[in-house]
Amino acid sequence: MTKYILDNADPNAEDRMAGLERCYDPFTFQRLGQLGIEPGWTCLELGGGGGSVGRWLADRVTAAGTVVVTDIDPRWTAYENVGHLRVQQHDITGGEPIAEAPFDLIHARLVLIHLPTRRRVLSKLVSLLRPGGWLVLEEFDCTRAHVYRARETGQVDLFLKWIHAFLAHIAEAGVSLTWAREVYQTMSEAGLVRLDAAGYETASPAGSPGSTVHRSNASQLRPSLVASGRLTDAEYDTLMALFDDPTFTPSSYLLISTQGQRPVM
Ligand SMILES: C[S@@+](CC[C@H](N)C(=O)[O-])C[C@H]1O[C@@H](n2cnc3c(N)ncnc32)[C@H](O)[C@@H]1O
Repeated sequence: MTKYILDNADPNAEDRMAGLERCYDPFTFQRLGQLGIEPGWTCLELGGGGGSVGRWLADRVTAAGTVVVTDIDPRWTAYENVGHLRVQQHDITGGEPIAEAPFDLIHARLVLIHLPTRRRVLSKLVSLLRPGGWLVLEEFDCTRAHVYRARETGQVDLFLKWIHAFLAHIAEAGVSLTWAREVYQTMSEAGLVRLDAAGYETASPAGSPGSTVHRSNASQLRPSLVASGRLTDAEYDTLMALFDDPTFTPSSYLLISTQGQRPVM
């Protein structure tokens, strides 16, 4: 099994899943909505997390179609099998087949970014598409982070110190900070056509979905970041208070959604 650094077994994972869904689902649904999903399609929602995208797809393909939601650890998926919506524990880096392939649509948000074998996984996903099928990969571009509003520059400095420490730590664990910007070309090299990409980012004050994602990530990796000397406990206390300060407004992560189609023939 692949080691996934933001382990779903951690108590902060539930908040992160909810934050990701509230922050990015509207954009994801807008992107997927442009593909002309029809009743009868067979879809794979890879690394389905909390399960909202799988449920949205199931409504579109209706009982005439099938949606398979896979996850290496599906404990937060908000349902089990419901008619044509199926949940499976599955590691995409392993050799186990997915019985419902080939797919009309495969969507994965924030999954390949974590996988050191992401290029091999992308090729595998292309092989699981039927001719004319769509691959949609949505990933964070971790090369940008900024603050929209703060009362003092010290707050900006602390937020940026934390985010750079967090990103350095997850990069050491195999997360690619630049993959989001490499997906388009990788899809092209894999033979996909009708490529497109677009991004979404939002101001994220206290209590917003983007702030919830920052807070749960910070909380989950606090022990590792303090132990490694990247931040002190005192800095961490100030940082966590910053996430509750209504005047402090960082950016969310920038999500880049890239799509390509397997040629019809
Ligand atoms: C950051 S979460 C994103 C969840 C969801 N896609 C979303 O955006 O709301 C990444 C998800 O990918 C799953 N995952 C990680 N490695 C995986 C693998 N090798 N195969 C399948 N799922 C995996 C994790 O368990 C987790 O649920």
